Amino acid sequence: MSSKSASVVILISGSGSNLQAIIDATQTDNYPVNIAAVISNRHNIKGLERAEQANINSVVVDHTQFNGREDFDQALIKQIDYYQPDLVVLAGFMRILTRDFVEHYTGRLINIHPALLPDFPGLNTHERAIESGVQQHGASVHFVTAEVDGGPIVLQADVPVKNDDTAEKLAQRVLQQEHLIYPLAIKWFAEKRLVLKDNKVLLDDVVLPETGLNYAQVVENQ
Ligand code: GRF
Repeated sequence: MSSKSASVVILISGSGSNLQAIIDATQTDNYPVNIAAVISNRHNIKGLERAEQANINSVVVDHTQFNGREDFDQALIKQIDYYQPDLVVLAGFMRILTRDFVEHYTGRLINIHPALLPDFPGLNTHERAIESGVQQHGASVHFVTAEVDGGPIVLQADVPVKNDDTAEKLAQRVLQQEHLIYPLAIKWFAEKRLVLKDNKVLLDDVVLPETGLNYAQVVENQ
């Protein structure tokens, strides 16, 4: 890996399909990202197997072994900072992070959320999207701030809701889009094109709209 690569630490709690998409991207040309480590808050998850298969360091920081959120987050910071990453990537990391944690990584902490934020923050987004009758659902990559799923948005991908959709079917189609937009946003960051400044997202020095860029439009303009 060339010294110009950005170093990232990826936090997971489960299947790690987004982690896999990022691993796959790092194995292509012109993808200047080095995954320094994968950190999980749970043992025996598929995401850890994926890290092992790709020969990536992995560490478990088990949240059940700590007295509270603060202690857990401090242990997490210690682990992450050991690797001195340029970027911390939340990829299905199912813990709410303390303000101290989030502020420690301001501007270098990103998340992917399975909904078109600001709609449907929180859990069970696919069920809620179907129940609410929206026609467009999707996924968002955003910088993380102390407000859960509330940070400035980088990139969104739309996924139309079908009449006969179930939460599982919709989730699968949303995941396919997640696997496209997350590696792309990380690439922009690694190339130093993507910056958080005064709580606004800039790509190539241009402030992005409140809902970030739309992936279909990005592809169209390529
Ligand atoms: C994804 O839907 C992501 O948006 C959400 O949790 C899920 C993680 O999936 N935050 P995976 O572990 O990457 O397969």
